[in-house]
Amino acid sequence: MIEISRLCKSFKGVPVLQGVDLEAAESERLVIIGGSGCGKSVLLRHIAGLLKPDSGSVKIDGQELTTLSERELNPIRKKIGVLFQGAALFDSLDVFHNVAFSLLEERSVNESEIRDRVEEALDVVGMNGQEHKKPGELSGGMRKRVGLARAIIHRPRIMLYDEPTTGLDPQIADSINRLILKMSNHFHVTSMVVTHDMVSAYLVGSRIAMLHQGKILVSGSPDEIQRNINPVVQHFIRGISEERDQELFGTNGNPSGATQVAKD
Ligand SMILES: Nc1ncnc2c1ncn2[C@@H]1O[C@H](COP(=O)(O)OP(=O)(O)OP(=O)(O)O)[C@@H](O)[C@H]1O
Ligand SMILES: [Mg+2]
Repeated sequence: MIEISRLCKSFKGVPVLQGVDLEAAESERLVIIGGSGCGKSVLLRHIAGLLKPDSGSVKIDGQELTTLSERELNPIRKKIGVLFQGAALFDSLDVFHNVAFSLLEERSVNESEIRDRVEEALDVVGMNGQEHKKPGELSGGMRKRVGLARAIIHRPRIMLYDEPTTGLDPQIADSINRLILKMSNHFHVTSMVVTHDMVSAYLVGSRIAMLHQGKILVSGSPDEIQRNINPVVQHFIRGISEERDQELFGTNGNPSGATQVAKD
């Protein structure tokens, strides 16, 4: 469903993606982990057709995105729903208009269908009856739900989630994770989830890939990732800083300490 090969992107001469190879099969839930600033959001934006790479290929359902014009991209973008980092709602619009936004722009859909589709989307995320609230009146978890309702309004076949649980308390984060699983199990969407939250990664991921220094360092089932002996992977998934590694194991930059942790 998603095929990325040798994807490269630099900003002002600074390389961010340096040959990313990644695939996601239909209905798969692929989680992308990696340190802050390593290019996870940039990668998602390429898949959503919102950024053009310097080189490399992004195929959705067999179709190459990178050579398409803005107009040609439109029908493909409808297959892809994106829950942006921070939900990215319009503060001046109420929930109804935030969710309906892209349908209202389209003009081909009539008013009663728009109402039905918004109701359906709000129903999926458990936000019915909140249509008239403004984003400022909602909690972080509710905002994410509205962002998700907006993302599924075109009944996408692919869902991209950028840090869906960041900043939420563990229970609300769990309810968002359940929604991601629901989208996958009930609607068979292919999901790509960018997260720092390892609880969420293990729960929602059928596969986890780690982006590091512009490339996919490892990819495997949650179990395989937990057992991976690469110290970079172990440090990340266990949240061990370099300073703590030195304190604990006196490795002085020697990564064997992390390998020790992996064996515990
Ligand atoms: N439009 C842009 N113009 C210039 N630089 C950019 C742009 N978008 C991203 N970058 C740079 O690319 C790098 C990767 O950014 P990105 O947002 O993908 O990181 P991330 O892995 O999502 O981090 P976080 O976990 O903090 O969200 C950063 O150094 C960022 O400053
Ligand atoms: Mg990001």
